[in-house]
Amino acid sequence: MIYRQVASLKTPSAFRDYLAESGIPLDFDAELHVGADAPLAQACRLPNGFVIGNRFAVLPMEGWDGTPEGHPTELTFRRWRHFGASGAKLIWGCESVAVRFDGRANPNQLIINESTLSDFIALRQALVAAHEQQWHSDDLLIGLQLTHSGRFACPRHKKRLEPIILYHHPILDRKFGIAPDSPVISDDEIARVVDDFVTAARLAQRAGFAFVDIKHCHGYLGHEFLSDVERPGRYGGSFENRTRFLREIVAGIHADAPGLEVGVRVSAFDFVPFRPNANRRGEPEPIGADKYRYAFGGDGTGVGIDLSEPRAFLDLLASLRINLVCISAGSPYYNPHIQRPAFFPPSDGYEPPENPLMGVARLIQVTTQLKHYRPELTFVGSGYSYLQEWLPNVAQYVVRTGQTDLVGLGRMVLTYPEMIADVLAGRPLQHKRICRTFSDCTTAPRNGWVSGCYRLDEFYRSRSEAQMLRAVRAKQGT
Ligand SMILES: Cc1cc2nc3c(=O)[nH]c(=O)nc-3n(C[C@H](O)[C@H](O)[C@H](O)COP(=O)(O)O)c2cc1C
Repeated sequence: MIYRQVASLKTPSAFRDYLAESGIPLDFDAELHVGADAPLAQACRLPNGFVIGNRFAVLPMEGWDGTPEGHPTELTFRRWRHFGASGAKLIWGCESVAVRFDGRANPNQLIINESTLSDFIALRQALVAAHEQQWHSDDLLIGLQLTHSGRFACPRHKKRLEPIILYHHPILDRKFGIAPDSPVISDDEIARVVDDFVTAARLAQRAGFAFVDIKHCHGYLGHEFLSDVERPGRYGGSFENRTRFLREIVAGIHADAPGLEVGVRVSAFDFVPFRPNANRRGEPEPIGADKYRYAFGGDGTGVGIDLSEPRAFLDLLASLRINLVCISAGSPYYNPHIQRPAFFPPSDGYEPPENPLMGVARLIQVTTQLKHYRPELTFVGSGYSYLQEWLPNVAQYVVRTGQTDLVGLGRMVLTYPEMIADVLAGRPLQHKRICRTFSDCTTAPRNGWVSGCYRLDEFYRSRSEAQMLRAVRAKQGT
């Protein structure tokens, strides 16, 4: 199946017709508004009184470019400056930061501890300074994403996972070489991880961040808790037990870091892991006759959605006085197409099993349903970069119609951070800088190199990794 490139859909009617003929349930505004009354320029007031200056958010984007000790490098600073210069008024998490060494997703992930605290102060200041070159920052909200990578921990060697698992997953264990008799993390150790999150949150507050995101997405530890249906004991089985981890962290933060807001980025639905078929097209891993029980927000088929538990999760967030929610899905390690829809797959991925616009529409639909369920919470949506030229039009529509409060941008910010400022100012888009979802930003780290856009960002194009990436692509035939 060949899908049309979004860039070829040049007019609103061409885009609308293509959506209709492809059966993609997505709507958009044909005209963009500019100026003080524009939907995307509206402020968003939080219950604590803080006013976020517009409806764009930057999503967390790590770069695999810290030092082995977890300090940032100039590449990290460059990315954070771009976050600030984008014009978005919510910076959701900046990038995932490990709360301890064994929770790193790669040997170059940032770690927050006493010895890196000054780095986080400097990173945040660099972001704010870049923002203040064009705007004031009283309405700029910046959070830090805290994580433990759990099953996908890879703290020491770039290509050697050192998984910390909550339970044995029948497909993921096989896929990632986890032996059936390898131990699961103990309840005592989980309690220590909780303490590490609380300590990290205290440090984030000292570094000046307004909130911390207790990451519950993408297959990492927080997310794995939500599908931990078979584990005996305090942290598995019932919904109450599976959310104990979050409740304990939040209780610790409320006690030890008063005034620090908490947000949660959650994979609100998940599918079974996908694999490439003989033609490299993605297909679901077989699950047998039984119900697939390991997808939080799944309906048991492995490829369907049931939002009963995600709704209960929102109820829990509200009861914990958590107002900020960022909706994502699945995991980049086993079903990237539902989380970051792309035309060109990463080197460890598969050809799109569906029109990537369907992935965008699914994320928007789920966010809409959850927003309608809990309208008082502040929602940030994800997965819009694949919309390319039509991103602003869809963004305006979803904000104007109350389907989300803010539109979060990930990959687009790597190639074209100023898209946000351009849209808000009514300037024409810079087409050559629009992310075309080549997936080099994922392929590079999968091969042990720093992440970045090696196609459109001249800075990365001139780095030595660009040539090595070309060789990987040639082998892949993309
Ligand atoms: C290179 C790269 C790094 C990412 N790093 C993070 C991260 O640190 N934390 C996180 O929650 N999501 C991370 N994501 C996911 C993005 O935040 C976002 O959800 C995803 O790219 C889909 O949004 P988009 O279509 O705007 O790119 C990353 C994605 C990419 C491509």
